[in-house]
Amino acid sequence: MKKKIAVIGTGYVGLVTGVALSDIGHQVYCLDVDPNKIDKLNQGISPIYEPGLEDLIHKNMYADRLHFTTEHSMAFKDADAIYIAVGTPERADGSANLDFVQQVAKDIAANVSDRGAVVVTKSTVPVGTNKLVKHWITDALDRDVQIEVVSNPEFLREGSAVYDTYHGDRIVIGAETEAAADLIEAINKPFGVPVFRTDIESAEMIKYASNAFLAAKISFINEIGTICGKLGANIEDVAKGMGMDKRIGDKFLNAGIGYGGSCFPKDTKALVQIAGDVNHTFDLLESVINVNNKQQQIPVDIAQMVVRGGLAGKKVAMLGLAFKPNTDDMRESASIVLAQKLTELGANISAYDPIAIENAKRLLPETVHYAANTEEALQDADVAIIVTEWDEFKDLPLTVFEKQMKQPIVIDGRNCYPLSYVETANIDYHSIGRPSVIRAKKSNQPAK
Ligand code: UDX
Repeated sequence: MKKKIAVIGTGYVGLVTGVALSDIGHQVYCLDVDPNKIDKLNQGISPIYEPGLEDLIHKNMYADRLHFTTEHSMAFKDADAIYIAVGTPERADGSANLDFVQQVAKDIAANVSDRGAVVVTKSTVPVGTNKLVKHWITDALDRDVQIEVVSNPEFLREGSAVYDTYHGDRIVIGAETEAAADLIEAINKPFGVPVFRTDIESAEMIKYASNAFLAAKISFINEIGTICGKLGANIEDVAKGMGMDKRIGDKFLNAGIGYGGSCFPKDTKALVQIAGDVNHTFDLLESVINVNNKQQQIPVDIAQMVVRGGLAGKKVAMLGLAFKPNTDDMRESASIVLAQKLTELGANISAYDPIAIENAKRLLPETVHYAANTEEALQDADVAIIVTEWDEFKDLPLTVFEKQMKQPIVIDGRNCYPLSYVETANIDYHSIGRPSVIRAKKSNQPAK
């Protein structure tokens, strides 16, 4: 059942959604108000780095199923479904700013075909927003047009969004009517992903609750890691042993320097706000957020303890800047907090990331030097901090730290190396929730 679909907003969610829907055969019109973005997309250039996405853009543009436009009339004309995928940035109080969504509602009212459409919200929006969207559209309509709204939240992970599209755990569809839910289920059928149907408010909540739960899992394991570090236990074994209990599950139990990205930080804060709006203090989630904020600073705390004479004037190599590997996304990355703190302490930062440097330049202090590769970043450094677990750092022979650095002190914020491997190297190594490996201690050990 091929449909005409308009996707409004070509940010991360909108672009991946539009491309994926065209790939399963629908006629998709992706609309953005930014003409530069649309120009680039029309040349087949993706504005975001996402493995496999550009190939799919080329394939589906060539097949004449995927179109990019700034023209509302072209996107909305005869659309069966209109996907809203515009940003909902965080306000100063943590709540979601719905100005872009409201603008789209007005645009829909002005351009929707007389036969009506199902409006699908992909953007993460507070509970109740879908009904508000319907109200905004019908209020602005000067004709009698049938509008249905459906909440269809996005669960894709950056860096593996294309894979996730076809291998997701579920597609959640929250609708007021069976007919609207039927249409969206039929549109998504070729993905072969299990569908869960519910009411609109529950669908909206599933997105926030899922992200908050995953963030809680990360903060929980990070707290256990901090205690492990003090007691000589190893967080990796603890997480493995815990994860074997199917009720706990073995995913999302990697201790590290906290979560970042476009979803967890924003959505956790928004859910605290949503709870507050109904006079509930979400104590647990507030703690999850506080733990994460502390977690992001840990490498600086360690560096201050282990680099003799303090960090002022010292060279600090930062390996990895993106909030996680396989993306150039810098949003809420621990590297931002770390670079600010280190700069305040007078350190000279030499940073390297395989693809996020251009985005980093807009967010990190101006004094940060960007290296062309790992070796250059490490050259004569007094301490190295691994921020992102890119494969190229995980595969790095530890001798590179020994050779390049003035003092081979490595603070691994992502537990990239097995301790058994680190034991063989001549470096001081500090990681998260695992015992430190120190050169002096090793050389004091009796020969075996
Ligand atoms: C997340 C959700 O997974 C996705 O379902 C939702 O739609 C958007 O938010 P994403 O932000 O792309 O996706 O990245 P994800 O892989 O979930 O990682 C988020 C952050 O948590 C990263 O900073 C990562 O380093 C951190 N993380 C993840 C940990 O610190 N430990 C873990 O065990 C897992």
